[in-house]
Amino acid sequence: MIPTLASCSFDEIVDAARGAQVQWLQLYVNADRAITERIVRHAEARGCKGLFITVDAPQLGRREKDMRTGRRRHVAGAARAISSFIDPSLAWADIPWFRSITSMPIVLKGVQRVEDVVKAAECGVQGVVLSNHGGRQLDFARSAVEVLAETMPVLRSMGLEHKLEVYVDGGVRRATDILKALCLGAKGVGIGRPFLYAMSAYGFDGVDRAMQLLRDELEMGMRLIGCTSVDQLNPSLIDTRNLGSHITGVPVDSLGHKVYDALATPAWKTPKSSKL
Ligand SMILES: Cc1cc2nc3c(=O)[nH]c(=O)nc-3n(C[C@H](O)[C@H](O)[C@H](O)COP(=O)(O)O)c2cc1C
Repeated sequence: MIPTLASCSFDEIVDAARGAQVQWLQLYVNADRAITERIVRHAEARGCKGLFITVDAPQLGRREKDMRTGRRRHVAGAARAISSFIDPSLAWADIPWFRSITSMPIVLKGVQRVEDVVKAAECGVQGVVLSNHGGRQLDFARSAVEVLAETMPVLRSMGLEHKLEVYVDGGVRRATDILKALCLGAKGVGIGRPFLYAMSAYGFDGVDRAMQLLRDELEMGMRLIGCTSVDQLNPSLIDTRNLGSHITGVPVDSLGHKVYDALATPAWKTPKSSKL
């Protein structure tokens, strides 16, 4: 997904696509709709296959870690400044206008309530991304996977599950997270920071490696739950009873707790000549 605010230009990113690689546009809606229209039309002309309109950022959240990181202080300020164009008045009533300027499928990114997913289906958009923006916008916003678990049964009961595609993002760190989302009924997941970190630490090789790890884990996980194809994944394969309780801690990795190899520190030998 190509973001509106990226460190490379839109055209550079499109030019870098390989083969039949599918690219989507993430749109921050500019209050100047002429600019928005130009961006959307250009993306479609360049072959983008989907318009993801971010709807959870009418104003940037207060990102205190960004603010406290001394060296990044000016970066946080810049992020705020360059995002000031985002239209805070964006509303459901704008969807027909987007429909009139593009034939790309329209997906709303940042939906956080079942009611809004139903409304999106009724408005005729092709999909939603359930997301709390990676926890970067509103404190206490629910995790997307919880909203997913609530949403899909409602869509099924209303016969809307094939009317729009439901994606989910936020906190996907392992392929087991992908499996959980697919079992619950997501069409796919978005992954942000893991690739950001892979890229920052190891460059392109890191991104390839992260992708390979996810692919291997996914294949292993599918095998271990007895599924030979993604279309066999379904809600009966997972236990969601604790999902909303928020009392289950994140499992602690006890490898470092003397269960296996204790950390061996070399013995200190005082040199004979030393007066210590
Ligand atoms: C550094 C950073 C920049 C982001 N920029 C945007 C953005 O410009 N537009 C947007 O819709 N979401 C943006 N997001 C949110 C991601 O699209 C996505 O919702 C989130 O990163 C998913 O969570 P994850 O990082 O835990 O995978 C950004 C996230 C991060 C970490």
